Amino acid sequence: MKNLIIGNWKCNPTTLKESRQLFDSVRKGAKNIKKSEVVICPPYARFLIFNFKFLKNIKIGAQNCFWEECGAYTGEVSAAMLKDIGCEYVIVGHSERRKYFNETNEIVNKKLKAIIDAKLKPILCVGETQEQRNNGETEKVLEEQISEAVKNISSPKFCESGTCIAYEPVWAIGTGNPCDYEEAQKMGLLIRKIISEIYNRPASQRFRLIYGGSVKSENAAGYIKEAGLNGLLVGGASLDAKEFLGIIKSVE
Ligand code: PGA
Repeated sequence: MKNLIIGNWKCNPTTLKESRQLFDSVRKGAKNIKKSEVVICPPYARFLIFNFKFLKNIKIGAQNCFWEECGAYTGEVSAAMLKDIGCEYVIVGHSERRKYFNETNEIVNKKLKAIIDAKLKPILCVGETQEQRNNGETEKVLEEQISEAVKNISSPKFCESGTCIAYEPVWAIGTGNPCDYEEAQKMGLLIRKIISEIYNRPASQRFRLIYGGSVKSENAAGYIKEAGLNGLLVGGASLDAKEFLGIIKSVE
């Protein structure tokens, strides 16, 4: 199984020109990458500048989607629409969506189902805040986030969906304070245990588990080589082509 290296551009860059330059530099630099699947998640407003169907070495992901297929829902973009234009992945449950847009576990569940039904691959983000960690609630929070996200999704459906779970401790996102490798490995095992309790042991081995939170080229490799995880979700560092390519190359 290849590593999954995802660049989440969030609401950046502001101009089309910068977006094109960034994308082209990453695409050129990632030409001979063998061990990783590279995914870029740009804002919706940039989707049409990439000719998805002709991109060979880079896959495209969305940062969000809506759970209904179509209808009178001003401002929303459905999973089915994303599939139709050649998008392959969708991030769901990112902590910034939970915090700024009041996304609950119930909403995450509806979106996850829609993503799977549209035959897109979900990147389900889970993780605790600093306060929850300090209060010893990490395990409970992860259990709740995961079990509610996958509620009423059958085991075969989950296994065949290509779902990836991203452990993204909120305290590590955009802070320059990444989770250490040992802790990331421990949380990865906990997430696999939670999935095996919901489904079964084989299911717990069937998905990719990645880490996100202040990943840079200097710390990236350890999450894969030492902590044994299957990839990385990169925010800030994915906006700098050299840095992002450094991350990708460090795990080759
Ligand atoms: P960061 O963001 O790499 O800037 O910490 C990670 C994320 O939000 O996925």
